Amino acid sequence: MSYRETRDLVTTDMSTSYHSLDIYIHFPFCNQKCAYCYIPTWRYTEQDADRYVQALLHEITRRRVDAAGRLRSIFFGGGTPSLLSAESVARLMEAICARYPLAADTVVTLEVSPLDVTLEAIRSFSKVGINRTSMGIQSFNEHVLRTIRRPHSPAEAITAVKTLREGGIQDIGIELMWAIVPFPLPTILDDLAVAADLPVDHVTTMWYDIYRPDVAGRPAPPAHHELTGKGYFYGEEAMIDVYEKATRFMRQRGFRRVATDEFRRSNLHVPAGLCLNGPALSYTGNGALIGYGLGAVSSIGPVVTCYDSGLEEYIADPLAPKNLQQFTPEELVWFRLIYDLLVPGCCERDEYVRFACRESAALDQWFDCAVKLGFLTRANACLTLTDRGAAWFNFSFGVENYNSMAEKVKRLFL
Ligand SMILES: C[S@@+](CC[C@H](N)C(=O)[O-])C[C@H]1O[C@@H](n2cnc3c(N)ncnc32)[C@H](O)[C@@H]1O
Ligand code: SF4
Repeated sequence: MSYRETRDLVTTDMSTSYHSLDIYIHFPFCNQKCAYCYIPTWRYTEQDADRYVQALLHEITRRRVDAAGRLRSIFFGGGTPSLLSAESVARLMEAICARYPLAADTVVTLEVSPLDVTLEAIRSFSKVGINRTSMGIQSFNEHVLRTIRRPHSPAEAITAVKTLREGGIQDIGIELMWAIVPFPLPTILDDLAVAADLPVDHVTTMWYDIYRPDVAGRPAPPAHHELTGKGYFYGEEAMIDVYEKATRFMRQRGFRRVATDEFRRSNLHVPAGLCLNGPALSYTGNGALIGYGLGAVSSIGPVVTCYDSGLEEYIADPLAPKNLQQFTPEELVWFRLIYDLLVPGCCERDEYVRFACRESAALDQWFDCAVKLGFLTRANACLTLTDRGAAWFNFSFGVENYNSMAEKVKRLFL
């Protein structure tokens, strides 16, 4: 669907069809708290997890969501959703599929922790519809893992990758982090070298985001974290340099960059516009993102909502999400632009300029400037981030930026 059509949908009827639907389900429990983690989580107990799943089922079956479209993906993220039983995943899948019919190629991802990966567990998850996993590893360096309080060793993570394959998972992703303060930046190059030798299909890499200690639910950061944000500890040029080296290395090893921070084996298909890194990048094109659970963001047309209060409040009333943002059509253009640029091949200049109406001159000026700075290239009408631009984009946007996203993008070059 083009931006012209999107514009018509946005300005006329909001309860309407989308090109695609992506569903994110959040499970906020873990067995431990890792030192760096910016996600509010609660200690796992079977009893709390059961109460939470009941609330999720209530939300999925009762919350009115005015969006129809082809179900492109379902992502069970966390927290540690591999602590869910296969029975609970089956009940959640049943509730989702009753409202949004599963397509033959719907990608259903479960985020897993290496310590939960047993052959038996993985076979049970496969049976109830999980066809992709994304495993949080962060690094293959023993010293880094111990320092950031990960519960697994490099050897356990490597064994888990092999078990996932044996257990029948077709599409295996892993998650690594760049720039873990205060370790040397090239640590990621060693980590990617290990990853490229493993039977993994997809590598998601996150820039280490030093969180703000004042946000509810997050622990105080380690003492050496005096700054917040992405990459300020190392400096932008050093970060861009290591990103370019890493991207070159991954290409040599047969991976292509399918989003700014995603590498996928070149021979593997990726559903149009879908970014496989959980929820955030499903914003591309005219997709609707529907989030269920505590902290899960929904983005439907120009409205972004989220339920971000405490666990007990959510369990007591899972139907009360709060509006984070309502974009005007002009703001929506800039907001979408960021997400479309993250995925190569998603951003068509002509459609933007037509859709943007009053903003079109500013948009063109923005594109020109980004091309001159070496952040963007044009091929026909398609605008694509260069490796340099992708690196820079990666650490320019943090999780807290929804509210000022449109304004911020404009300010970047104008
Ligand atoms: C919130 S975790 C959930 C998955 C799983 N529990 C795990 O341990 O990886 C999802 C991903 O968020 C990323 N993450 C968590 N805290 C982060 C931070 N401060 N900066 C950047 N990425 C972070 C990690 O890469 C992690 O793989
Ligand atoms: S990184 Fe994963 S396991 Fe660690 S606290 Fe965060 S959500 Fe839990």
